Amino acid sequence: MEVVIRDSQSAVAVEAAGRVIALVQSAPASQLGLATGATQQGIYQLLIDAHRSGVADFSSARYFMLDEYVGIPVSSSTSFQNVLSNDFLRHVQAPDGALEVLDGNAPDLEHETHRFEVALGNAGGVDLQLLGIGTNGHIGFNEPGSSAESRTRVVELHTDTIHSNAHYFESAESVPRCALSQGIGTILEARSILLIATGESKARAIAAMVEGPATEDCPASLLQKHPNVTVIIDTAAASMLRTREKVTTRAQASSG
Ligand code: GLP
Repeated sequence: MEVVIRDSQSAVAVEAAGRVIALVQSAPASQLGLATGATQQGIYQLLIDAHRSGVADFSSARYFMLDEYVGIPVSSSTSFQNVLSNDFLRHVQAPDGALEVLDGNAPDLEHETHRFEVALGNAGGVDLQLLGIGTNGHIGFNEPGSSAESRTRVVELHTDTIHSNAHYFESAESVPRCALSQGIGTILEARSILLIATGESKARAIAAMVEGPATEDCPASLLQKHPNVTVIIDTAAASMLRTREKVTTRAQASSG
C-alpha cells in the first residue's frame, strides 16, 4: 500500500483527481469504478473542471457503481446512481449507458447482483477503483465480517454505518437497512485502487487498514492483499498512524 499524506482535504482531492486525470489522458477508454460519499465530491468537481478546461475527456470511459442503497428511488438525492450522475457524469458528457448501475430497486436483487458481476466480467474489470472508507473500516458497503472472497451481493448495513449516513436522510430511521455492494473479492480484482479519506473520524479505520492485520474485522485491511493500492489521506485521517513520519517522508520524496 502506498500511503500519501496531504495537508488538507482539498490537497487530497487534487492529488486523487490528478491520478484519475492522468489515467484517462493516457487511456481515454478506461474503466473506472466510482464511489460516493462526501470525500469523493471534491474529486468529482476537479474532474468536471478538467473536462471543462479541455484537460481530460471522460466521454469515452466506462463507469461501474460500487454500491447502492436498496429501495431508494433513483430520483432521490440519496440514491448513489443519482449522486454519480449529478456530481459527475452528466457534467462530463458521459453517454447514456456509460454507467453500469447497481439497481437497488430491481425486482430480484440477487439476480441484479449476478447481472452486475457478469457485466463487469464481460467488460474485463475496472482499471481504477475509487474508494472511501467507513468509520468502521467498511469499503463499499462491505461491513466488518465481510470475507475477502465476497462478491457483489445484498448486504445489511451496520448500525455504525446507518448512524454515519443518517445526515443524508431525515433521520437514522429513514436510512435503508440494506444495500447492494461490490464484494471485497470483486474490488480486489480492480487493476488499481485509490482509497481516499479525510478527517479525524477516519483516523482509527485508516490505522487499522494500513498497520493492523489483514482481517475481516476491518474490511479495508483486506486491501493489503492487493499489489496496487494507493491511499491518499489528510493529516487528520493520518493522525493515528504510528508510521506516519515514515510514510510522509516517502510521499514527500516521491512528489519531488
Ligand atoms: C458510504 C459508502 C462508502 C463510503 C463511505 C464513506 O457508507 N457506501 O462507499 O466510502 O460512505 O463516505 P464519506 O466519504 O461520506 O465519509
